[in-house]
Amino acid sequence: MKLIHLTDIHLTTPGQTIGGRDPNANFENALTHALARHPDAEAIVITGDLSDWGERADYQRLRARIERLPVRVQLAIGNHDDRATFLEVFPELADADGHVQTRFSLSRGTGVVIDTWGPRSHAGFYCDKRCAWLDAALAQSEGPVFLFMHHHPVPSHVGPVDQIMLRDADAFGAIIAAHRQRIAHIFFGHCHFAFSGSLHGVPFSCARGTNHAGWADFTETAMLLGSDLPEAYAVVFAKGASVTVQMVEFGYRGAHRIEGSPDCAAWSRATMAR
Ligand SMILES: [Fe+2]
Ligand SMILES: [Fe+2]
Repeated sequence: MKLIHLTDIHLTTPGQTIGGRDPNANFENALTHALARHPDAEAIVITGDLSDWGERADYQRLRARIERLPVRVQLAIGNHDDRATFLEVFPELADADGHVQTRFSLSRGTGVVIDTWGPRSHAGFYCDKRCAWLDAALAQSEGPVFLFMHHHPVPSHVGPVDQIMLRDADAFGAIIAAHRQRIAHIFFGHCHFAFSGSLHGVPFSCARGTNHAGWADFTETAMLLGSDLPEAYAVVFAKGASVTVQMVEFGYRGAHRIEGSPDCAAWSRATMAR
């Protein structure tokens, strides 16, 4: 089974750029790149910051675009989104409490998308109602579960980035701990740089994002930093007992060099590029 994880697409008014890049064009580039290589992907999941300023026109263009795709698309919202405006365009994505949370079936297990949005804050929140929803959703889900969200529920150890992490990480973590046996992987974005690790033994990965890239400076105490690292998404392979998450830097414009033969017997100072 394959999944495509896109994050932080930050759609904006056509013609405007972020970090010197066109997020609308880069969203399209990511879709084209991913679907050309993985037409057998079961789903594309976009983990928030769908619109840079939470604007209705961005959500309308997003809706029109994903309705034309040959693969299902699941959406989470992030701090740059506006939940009420988003739900005006995607009303069917609200759960019974009005959060953007859902479960969906996969050929291997279940996908779960959760809503970590909170008003007037760039940090993430996971209130009692959402915790109860997730607890029940996980209890009812056929494993393995692939869990998608916007905010990081674990520290990145980059100070300014962690000031806007998931505030209710302990409550969220307690649910993960209770259901850890059935959760295969947690996917999120928000940080605009890639990192991986585990939470209560459950592996996670943070994808970089399809437009502007961040930078993990462990000495910075005040400001969020950007960089010129390539635009990226992740492709997820679930096969046998393994889950592999590859970051695909589709924005890389450098060369690809042949380094040597796959036949180890042919490896020599004469034949290998150095
Ligand atoms: Fe973002
Ligand atoms: Fe974000």
